[in-house]
Amino acid sequence: MYLTRHPDPVPRSAARRILTRWMAGLIAMAATAAWCPASAQAPILIQFSHVVTPDTAKGKAAQRFKELAEARTGGKVRVEIYPNSQLYKDREELDALRQGAVQMIAPSLSKLASVSGGDFEVFDLPFLFKDRAAFRAAVDGPVGAALMKKFEPYGLKGLAFWDNGFKVFSANRPLQSAADFKTLKIRVQASRVLVTQMKAVGAHASVGPLASVYEALRSGQLDGQENTPTNIVTQRLHEVQSHLTVSNHGYLAYAVIVNAIFWDKLPSPIRTTLEGAMRDATAYENSIAEAENNKALATIKASGRLTVHTATPYELEQWRAALTPVYKDAQGWISAETLTALNAMNGPPT
Ligand code: SIN
Repeated sequence: MYLTRHPDPVPRSAARRILTRWMAGLIAMAATAAWCPASAQAPILIQFSHVVTPDTAKGKAAQRFKELAEARTGGKVRVEIYPNSQLYKDREELDALRQGAVQMIAPSLSKLASVSGGDFEVFDLPFLFKDRAAFRAAVDGPVGAALMKKFEPYGLKGLAFWDNGFKVFSANRPLQSAADFKTLKIRVQASRVLVTQMKAVGAHASVGPLASVYEALRSGQLDGQENTPTNIVTQRLHEVQSHLTVSNHGYLAYAVIVNAIFWDKLPSPIRTTLEGAMRDATAYENSIAEAENNKALATIKASGRLTVHTATPYELEQWRAALTPVYKDAQGWISAETLTALNAMNGPPT
């Protein structure tokens, strides 16, 4: 379902699923502890839920983490991956992680307000990063470290930042000027910055889970959306849109987060091994994300299903001007500390 407000509550069926899995996990843990001799203990299970397909950079890195974690712990850890919203959709997976129904997720930074305060939404500010290196410099330095601490009061721990890349816009009409967005229903992720961004150009922002975007576009419930080329291709969104503009107006990236109680209780050598596996999976993810998006954009162009337009410098200038008020509005919920730190790295919005 698509909402015009921020964000989707956990549906009753999902809440039941979370509770059932959590109770099954408790029973399994109790049984294991009671009956298994130390030498035959069941492996520690990490259930890793995410909302994109296995052939995205995130999906491939989750698989790489699984392989490294299982091999390096000699089978003492088993990682089960649940991709493509198979287990939980956007908001549900955050609740599932907090409740211990899964142990690891990698949501986009845009969806983290409910488990960190509002500061991660800083990454949604339009035209914030001039290139991928600028994004990496922010998350790999003190800004990233300070943001990861924001999870602690919510019982979560951030392990890594994973890249996706720059977003583009698509719709069922050409999008070349801010005026072209007027009255369109555009799907965005559950971020106040993204909702504000769409309001600034006169569009209606619709917040909803990735898993429902294809059907909402196909049925005309939505007119357009913004995402990276890999997400567009792997969710087949280009098949239900007539126009796409390569705007590179915002950046999509992820935080890999775990349930802190689960993580802190791991035997220390296992935790250290898993941290190493995560470091290597992260390096792998960040090394392939850009190429995956280039490949996906080529696929979109070659499909011949929609008209692809690359925004001109003049058009981008107009969009920047139309979207600059979003920076001021965001001061209402993103801390001055985070805004100042990022602006100092990037210079003021141009
Ligand atoms: C993701 O890349 O994990 C999802 C992004 C979205 O919901 O659009």
